[in-house]
Amino acid sequence: MSDAALLTVQDLNAGYGRSQVLFDVSLTAPARGGVAILGRNGAGKSTLLRTLFGELPPLSGAIVFSGAPVGAMPAEERIRRGLGYVPQEYAIFSKLSVRENLVLGAIRQPKRNAIDDALDFFPKLAQRLDQTAGTLSGGERKMLAIGRAILGRPRLLMLDEPTEGVWVGVIEEIADRLRLLSREMTVILVEQHIELALDLADYAYVMDRGRIALEGTASAVKSDPALITHLAP
Ligand SMILES: Nc1ncnc2c1ncn2[C@@H]1O[C@H](COP(=O)(O)OP(=O)(O)OP(=O)(O)O)[C@@H](O)[C@H]1O
Ligand SMILES: [Mg+2]
Repeated sequence: MSDAALLTVQDLNAGYGRSQVLFDVSLTAPARGGVAILGRNGAGKSTLLRTLFGELPPLSGAIVFSGAPVGAMPAEERIRRGLGYVPQEYAIFSKLSVRENLVLGAIRQPKRNAIDDALDFFPKLAQRLDQTAGTLSGGERKMLAIGRAILGRPRLLMLDEPTEGVWVGVIEEIADRLRLLSREMTVILVEQHIELALDLADYAYVMDRGRIALEGTASAVKSDPALITHLAP
């Protein structure tokens, strides 16, 4: 993808101390739509998102977001430029109430009732406003984390396993909302539910041992016989 790309990653190498996890990862994401990142446990999906967000410094490679190289910028600066991130774990403050969590997400928004956008998005949260976030169900926690992230008005939202630990009856509700989001912004989705991810995404990357092993349109990846070999344990 060329100048239409909102995010371009070129030959990214990253890891933890001396243990390198990502090897020459290159990818692009357009200004709208869903991009799925698939891969078995330990493939490096979360490490990739952490590096893109700025939690982990890259060893080498380029991360260009909205025309600017952000690879050396702190996460705070990337957020300011429109990068949103819902991590796989610890995405919410469990000792704070739902309302307090949302208010923190809306901190950049001067308008009153800023948290209403999240409540409109996930009406269930409105019934839980004064409840401590740590007492929410798995699905409600994910809704809170996603709801809080959208209050930051991201242009690109990275979601690390938004349906992990969510009861099957609620997964489709979350998927529906993500589908809606990907119409107005870029959504990078890491998911273990392969069908769901390929259904939500336009384009997909499959990681295997820290490398991009397969990529293509979601429908091409879905029918590629190599998919199963890269995902098999
Ligand atoms: N904080 C850390 N310190 C050292 N190694 C880590 C750390 N976090 C992850 N790793 C290692 O990096 C590799 C990739 O982990 P990562 O969490 O990125 O995989 P993943 O694809 O997100 O897996 P999962 O599907 O289980 O979430 C693994 O070998 C893991 O053990
Ligand atoms: Mg992970």
